[in-house]
Amino acid sequence: MTPGIRPLIAGNWKMNGSWRGSRRLADAVRDAAPALDCSLLVCPPFLHVQAVAATLLGSPVAVGGQDCHAKPSGAHTGDIGAPMLRDAGATHVLLGHSERRADHGESSALVFAKCEAALAAGLTPVVCVGETEAQRDAGHAEAVVGQQLSESLPLGFITAGGIIAYEPVWAIGTGRTPTEADIAAMHAHMRRRLVLAFGPTAELTRLLYGGSVKPSNAAAILALPDVDGALVGGASLVADDFIAIAQAVPRG
Ligand code: 13P
Repeated sequence: MTPGIRPLIAGNWKMNGSWRGSRRLADAVRDAAPALDCSLLVCPPFLHVQAVAATLLGSPVAVGGQDCHAKPSGAHTGDIGAPMLRDAGATHVLLGHSERRADHGESSALVFAKCEAALAAGLTPVVCVGETEAQRDAGHAEAVVGQQLSESLPLGFITAGGIIAYEPVWAIGTGRTPTEADIAAMHAHMRRRLVLAFGPTAELTRLLYGGSVKPSNAAAILALPDVDGALVGGASLVADDFIAIAQAVPRG
């Protein structure tokens, strides 16, 4: 936790669920929200954003997309523009997730352009960064993440409340996590980089950790300095687990 930052627990539902299932999951998070001492965000698949946003209207739970195109509209078959997400009720968008980088060859330059599109549409970008296992083993984790940060974030990202999620690629969906010391070191590194690049406003930028967060490890991870929340994949598909992770946020 960072003093002065309200922690955020975000769920990335990835390519899972029916719209009924998404609504049920959203209902459960909405019902639990008033008793939770953190901000909450759920990121359903595009097709379910509107239904989930309607379910969550008037609740403190925010809705995000999992990606957007770098252009607001046009001849881009199969893509979704940031203004469409906004129109459907989203307030946030995940960008540069390692699955997008791997499955769709997304570069940090493209993530930068998508970030600009998100900001122009009034969406809060959540930019994902993280090293592969080979990069960590070679001792390059901080350099890789530092480069991703410097190439992915446009001017205005920090003042608009942009969020960073550190997700080591090798920890996603594997049940493995870095040591608490490694997570803390990476988050301190990211904070330093951001403050150097953007100035003291970045002291209040939310830095989330993602990668195999579950109810059993959430309290220890969320208590680390400069860890201002979590981006949860698999465990966010089970309402009780997602809520248990949010309950593990240390009381400020
Ligand atoms: P898991 O929590 O399933 O490891 O996924 C993390 C993730 O990729 C969130 O964006």
